[in-house]
Amino acid sequence: MTSTAHNVPRTTNNAGVPVESDEHSLTVSADGPILLQDHYLIEKMAQFNRERVPERVVHAKGAGAYGHFEVTNDVSQFTKADLFQPGKTTEMLARFSTVAGEQGSPDTWRDPRGFALKFYTEDGNYDLVGNNTPIFFVRDTIKFQDFIRSQKRRPDNGMRDNDMQWDFWTLSPESAHMVTWLMGDRGIPKTYRNMNGYGSHTYMWVNAGGERFWIKYHFKTDQGIDFLTQEDADRIAGEDGDAHRRDLYDAIDSGNAPSWTLYVQVMPFADAPDYRFNPFDLTKVWPHGDYPLIEVGRMTLNKNPDDYFIHIEQAAFEPSNMVPGIGPSPDKMLLGRLFSYPDTHRYRIGPNYAQLPPNRPRVPVHSYAKDGPMRYEPNRVARPYAPNGYGGPAADILRYGEPAGWQTAGEMVREAYTLRRDDDDFGQPGTMVRQVLDDAARDRLVNNVSGHLLNGVSRPVIDRALQYWRNIDKNVGDRIAKKVNGG
Ligand code: NDP
Ligand code: HEM
Repeated sequence: MTSTAHNVPRTTNNAGVPVESDEHSLTVSADGPILLQDHYLIEKMAQFNRERVPERVVHAKGAGAYGHFEVTNDVSQFTKADLFQPGKTTEMLARFSTVAGEQGSPDTWRDPRGFALKFYTEDGNYDLVGNNTPIFFVRDTIKFQDFIRSQKRRPDNGMRDNDMQWDFWTLSPESAHMVTWLMGDRGIPKTYRNMNGYGSHTYMWVNAGGERFWIKYHFKTDQGIDFLTQEDADRIAGEDGDAHRRDLYDAIDSGNAPSWTLYVQVMPFADAPDYRFNPFDLTKVWPHGDYPLIEVGRMTLNKNPDDYFIHIEQAAFEPSNMVPGIGPSPDKMLLGRLFSYPDTHRYRIGPNYAQLPPNRPRVPVHSYAKDGPMRYEPNRVARPYAPNGYGGPAADILRYGEPAGWQTAGEMVREAYTLRRDDDDFGQPGTMVRQVLDDAARDRLVNNVSGHLLNGVSRPVIDRALQYWRNIDKNVGDRIAKKVNGG
């Protein structure tokens, strides 16, 4: 390394050529104009102008870390997935996030939290892109874009708007369960370490014998659930907008590695058609009483990224990254998501995003993909096509052609899921309000909702919101009405 007199590396431009000054542009005399031949100045300005990639269209603000997942229980009767086999430990990356806020938004805004995981398994990357909620606001992909726009900024004044949020929610009664969750204590976790993560969707597991199961993932925090009151969250938003990012970084930096224990609920494949509600509907949980939690393993986050942009900003999670032994279910949200994520990554960070450090698998890639902008790994296949008589990679249908799917038939329609006995929108949130929350939590729920409604929501929308809450629970709805109407 060549050093200056002060024994620090000498500055170079991006081509490694030594530069003369970081303080003075090249000019004609000290007071004269800047010269176009100052390539270093131009490189500095041009590089700076391109420093940002677009932020994620949702979940823009987040934090992340590397760690590992270790299996603690034998679930091989349910899945042959490499990462869930007894005794296995798998390296992984996690990113937590808020949903609606932009890159610089405060970590303590009321919002669901993303819980995105990437496991570097021996069969390639497995991405589980969940939230800190086991449910979601809508149940058909075609409504996701509209839902998100109702939570983001208004086109005319550029501001977020509670009226849009309640307008959308009250016209979409399937949102009631998630809105109840959001307005309750868990709508603002104390830290990322103090929240659970859920796969949320139903997924399919397939065992070595080809037997299929429906499953749901639950990552329970080993730090204990904790939350912020609205008042504390508002204060912290002003004091330290990065409070949750800082907490995660500092905890890991000081050797206090957070962990989560993974459980699954397992539904026998044959139960699905006759279950009392649609088990693939993302607005519903499977009651623990019907399908108890089975322990699987523990995930521990113990390594901070050494460069936030490279490892967290350029991390690309995609629910379509599934490995042998795991497959999708007929959840209309999940099936839409399988397309959406790789599509947005190609736009946000470019078509060769899979080669970037957080995204590259830890196993050799033998893909026929080639070229494209910013590709830096060589194309390893001399003749890039299949079938290939020159020793190129060959797909193996005998080994990987398992039925990670289900049988389906019918007319093409645009219809909601077929209703079953318990398929109502208000039952499960009602259970939560009446049986899961205690008196103090119910009081906070009433305060949070009424405070939100009194902040810029128009009268017709308020009236719909009061009816929405009475549908969830008459008593809670009446209490909210009393507060909102000044009673
Ligand atoms: P259980 O009594 O077995 O489960 C209730 C669950 O509610 C707890 O295990 C806990 O989930 C979660 N919970 C506790 N406090 C809160 C809170 N303030 N906000 C949100 N969730 C909380 O009953 P059921 O399984 O029959 O479910 C009853 C209701 O509980 C459901 O309608 C649903 O609203 C809610 N729920 C159910 C979950 C499930 O997967 N069955 C998961 C979470 C909530 P956890 O242990 O995951 O922290
Ligand atoms: C991020 C689409 C539903 C969890 C994103 C992104 C898109 C997207 C485009 C930005 C990704 C990026 O730029 O890297 C959708 C669509 C959905 C949907 C179309 C519905 C059809 C959900 C649901 C969950 C979820 C139901 C949770 C269960 C996440 C998370 C991220 C994310 C955690 C951030 C990932 C990260 O940390 O990089 N989503 N989403 N999304 N989504 Fe979704």
